[in-house]
Amino acid sequence: MTENNTILDVVKLTKIFRDFWRRPTVTAVDGLDLSIRRGEIFGLLGPNGSGKSTTIKMLLGLLHPTEGSISILGGRPSDVAVRKRIGYLPEASYLYRYLTPRETLSFYGRLFDLPAAERRRRTEELLAMTGLESAADRAVGEFSKGMARRLGLAQALLNAPELLILDEPTSGLDPMGCRQVKELLRALADQGTTILLTSHLLADVEHICDRVVIMYNGRPRAAGALQDLLATPERMTLDLPALDAAATKRLLAVLREQLACEPELSRPTMNLEEFFVRVVNEAAEDPSPANAAGPHMAPFLKQ
Ligand SMILES: Nc1ncnc2c1ncn2[C@@H]1O[C@H](COP(=O)(O)OP(=O)(O)O)[C@@H](O)[C@H]1O
Ligand SMILES: [Mg+2]
Repeated sequence: MTENNTILDVVKLTKIFRDFWRRPTVTAVDGLDLSIRRGEIFGLLGPNGSGKSTTIKMLLGLLHPTEGSISILGGRPSDVAVRKRIGYLPEASYLYRYLTPRETLSFYGRLFDLPAAERRRRTEELLAMTGLESAADRAVGEFSKGMARRLGLAQALLNAPELLILDEPTSGLDPMGCRQVKELLRALADQGTTILLTSHLLADVEHICDRVVIMYNGRPRAAGALQDLLATPERMTLDLPALDAAATKRLLAVLREQLACEPELSRPTMNLEEFFVRVVNEAAEDPSPANAAGPHMAPFLKQ
């Protein structure tokens, strides 16, 4: 692995919150090591209060670590040049109630000093990508949590970031919204964007993370490639078209001879998310963004 491929390197990161008299109150993060490679989707998982948001705030330079070191995009979290290359979706995004999505994106585009034409182009492309075109001129104050989340994601992508940091990106999304966000993140990662996300809803991110750390009480408890962590090498499944009763009986008899125990026969089911997405897609007759086959990437983000 070359230096260049490591986007983020965190060693022994620790944050102890102190009270007014500087007495330690909470150890929010306790000796966290992380290394994230370019183009990877990395999941920081754990229940509420396990230190995920605190970790992210330290990576962004919003909180100062008590101990440990952070190297991010080859620099420090406080470097302005580094910050320009990061996109951030906070746990609760602060959107101005009376602005529309189009105005919101234009406003943030101005903060990034994007020229007017480029600002307009990126705004329109991101509205299309996040499925907010039809709501682009409604005040954000009326938005559902899912719509606000998608606008937050669009905002985080305005500067075409190399590293996208998302704090609970799927919170408040319905299953369709969740599926769309996951497909978008996968597509972004496939074209080179590195993504660090947090979640306390493990099923939400199970299919898209390449590697994860599971935190509990500030400490990393398990880490690794998702496929390794979830593998059960002592078991195997055989996936077949359904057989008739006689053929099933013959097959089980053969297997019984090979095994010390009784083989277990079951019929696979879809998970509820797959089923839900299918029902909704079948119910909708017009091809809306929710029904489109794959995510539609904003052209300006293509690297
Ligand atoms: N500013 C703060 N002052 C004191 N304690 C805090 C502060 N922010 C977070 N904490 C505490 O640190 C722990 C981790 O919080 P957080 O990082 O928000 O967890 P998560 O994002 O995993 O839900 C919690 O016990 C929380 O109460
Ligand atoms: Mg949090």
